[in-house]
Amino acid sequence: METVIKNARVVTGDGILEGIEVGIENGKIAALDKNLSGQKIIDAQGKYLIPGGIDVHTHLDTFFGGMQTADDFTSGHLGAIAGGTTTHLNFCFPERGQSLIEALSYWINKAHGDALIDYGFHAVIQDESHLQELPQLIEMGISSIKCFLAYKDKLQINDELFYKTVEKAKELGIVTMVHAENGTLIDYLVRKAVAHQWISPLFHAKTRPPEFEAQSIHFAATVASVLRAPLYIVHLSSKQGLEEVIRAKRSGTFLWTETCPQYLFFTEKDLQRKGKSAGLEDFEGAKWICSPPLRKEEDRNALWDGLFSGTIDVVSSDHCSFHFIGQKTRGLKDFSKIPSGVPGIEERMILLFYYGCMKRKLPLERFVLLNSELPARIFGLDGIKGKIAVGYDADVVIWDPQIKKTLSVHSHHIRLDYNLYEGFYIEGGPEMVMLRGQIIYNNGQFYVKKANGQFLFRSPPSILNCPTP
Ligand code: URP
Ligand code: ZN
Ligand code: ZN
Ligand code: ZN
Repeated sequence: METVIKNARVVTGDGILEGIEVGIENGKIAALDKNLSGQKIIDAQGKYLIPGGIDVHTHLDTFFGGMQTADDFTSGHLGAIAGGTTTHLNFCFPERGQSLIEALSYWINKAHGDALIDYGFHAVIQDESHLQELPQLIEMGISSIKCFLAYKDKLQINDELFYKTVEKAKELGIVTMVHAENGTLIDYLVRKAVAHQWISPLFHAKTRPPEFEAQSIHFAATVASVLRAPLYIVHLSSKQGLEEVIRAKRSGTFLWTETCPQYLFFTEKDLQRKGKSAGLEDFEGAKWICSPPLRKEEDRNALWDGLFSGTIDVVSSDHCSFHFIGQKTRGLKDFSKIPSGVPGIEERMILLFYYGCMKRKLPLERFVLLNSELPARIFGLDGIKGKIAVGYDADVVIWDPQIKKTLSVHSHHIRLDYNLYEGFYIEGGPEMVMLRGQIIYNNGQFYVKKANGQFLFRSPPSILNCPTP
């Protein structure tokens, strides 16, 4: 073997392998066995070996809500690597009137020269004409599409186009993802709030009640049920939303869902935090503005329960970073002008390990399922990424449970003027990260080259032929 990793506890979704060595050759996992010999031996005594993280919901280098995200592919990838993530799926937004084929070529081009880890795209459906392009997009390696039922007059599509999209996706064997919130009613509540001068960050949450998420999930799941089509609910934020997910799963709908760290660690109280900067004291909460918004304690608890029970399938970051100064501050006098989105590509796995596995006893197998294995299976990377098994890409992380640190803007690797998790203490994290067998991070040092990340050709996933778990 070119490389052999010895003495690690190898974590897979099915169990933890003790006393098994991992042999790597030509960028792939070539052997899982005992007594392997290799040109390079890595001793991982006292550490875990996990598959590299797969973050299936990111917005790097994206113009969103009238602003350019703070992170591009390179800075986002540095954060991803430091947090143990080796693959991500970004959203490919077409410009108004642009074809999806054109948009995809533009996005692949844009990522190509900057990429440090492997990446793919979900295509965002904005127009009925996009549906005709889907067979060609599949040939270009796209096996998932996204619809927005929120952001009225911007990204929101109508019920008919949503139905036709899910119908077409089913015919082609690909997954429809949906941002499920009632955008029409949110738009009305936002206009009403601003007219009353209710302009502080908290009103972002007050104008997007959890009922609007639950109702929209119910609607989307109804469409999926009528069509017997697969559906993936993005960034689930509420208990009521989760109840709709459970109801739909129980009735046999092919439905998966993800939540994100922000919904597991914060509540709408964080929108009322007080800052120290002059003139911005009441605006600190803008850092926590994302859509759907942060909810209440009971929602947060329900989402944690969902991670344990398996009703939530995936943890993604929805990384969409905007600086506090100069970007979030656009909404100083009107919360509806605060760009919506929070960071998380760097902290996603670190937080889930310490606060999930260490503190709450989330099984390590589920940690790996939520972060790597299920995302790969749902999004067409099965057999390639997301698992420590022979034949898979050698995207692996030596995870040291002894690492101790406090998260801070001063030590993160993304390009952002604040850290959402400032002051959070964690234990455990990546000591070494390999991408296709190459060491790209070791003991805090990066060994990366631009354009080393590859565009991932994803096929329609075989999981869609099976009933939901
Ligand atoms: O606030 C968020 N989540 N911004 C990113 C776009 C989206 O809706 O996922
Ligand atoms: Zn969304
Ligand atoms: Zn319902
Ligand atoms: Zn998003």
